[in-house]
Amino acid sequence: MSVHQAEDGRKVTTHRLTEMKLRGEKIAMLTAYDYSMATLIDAAGMDVILIGDSASNVMAGNVTTLPITLDQMIYHGKSVMKAVRRALVVCDLPFGSYQGNSKEALCSAIRVMKETHVDAIKVEGGREIEESITRILSAGIPVMGHLGLTPQSINKFGTYSVRAKEEEEANKLIEDAHLLESLGCFALVLEKIPASLAARVSSELTIPVIGIGAGGGTDGQVLVMHDMLGITQDFSPRFLRRYASLGSLIKEATARYIEDVKSSDFPNINEQY
Ligand code: KIV
Repeated sequence: MSVHQAEDGRKVTTHRLTEMKLRGEKIAMLTAYDYSMATLIDAAGMDVILIGDSASNVMAGNVTTLPITLDQMIYHGKSVMKAVRRALVVCDLPFGSYQGNSKEALCSAIRVMKETHVDAIKVEGGREIEESITRILSAGIPVMGHLGLTPQSINKFGTYSVRAKEEEEANKLIEDAHLLESLGCFALVLEKIPASLAARVSSELTIPVIGIGAGGGTDGQVLVMHDMLGITQDFSPRFLRRYASLGSLIKEATARYIEDVKSSDFPNINEQY
């Protein structure tokens, strides 16, 4: 396996992501939620690790990202931060912790930064959360935006299908992207929108744009670790490329272990004291 090495192994910063965009180096981002996986992903050379609120789905078994709490995100954040040496680490603010009340948004972001030591936070939305973003940024906390399919709004959308296909929604997304840049966000995630729209936004903005299901014209890509490694097996959107089938490997290994225990093959004479 080839391990991508940054040119000098230095910690990735928001500034270095901007430099990567400027020199056309693509940014690799992946989610992680626990110490062991974050250790491996960081050692492999990941640029950005996202403690996504997708933890609600893949770690806690919820149908949506809505139920996960700030305390639960902080728990995942602390676990990941014990592992990471090089990657920039971003933690999602969960649903209900930043919308509507910018003071509460700032308190949530400060709790995440103080208790986990992550490098930045991510929030979903544009104009409607402008006040919260401004307030969080005013405390010196780096903010990553997230537009397009924003899973915390799934009940408004009613479907996980491609967003911003129609002109009106595409225009709002372009406006929101420029707004987030002008407010001071250091990067933007675009989820499940047409590739041409994502490429346009990426070329118009100076901050790095990271896509998921948004084509190859963005400055980087992000996937959910459990999907990319084939741990989740019943989720196969067109944009997902699986790099391993860990789900099958885990089931096969577990079945062999059960068989060996039942047949008294494990432990053998060399596996005891
Ligand atoms: O929560 C998450 O994993 C995310 C990514 C899909 C970008 O927000």
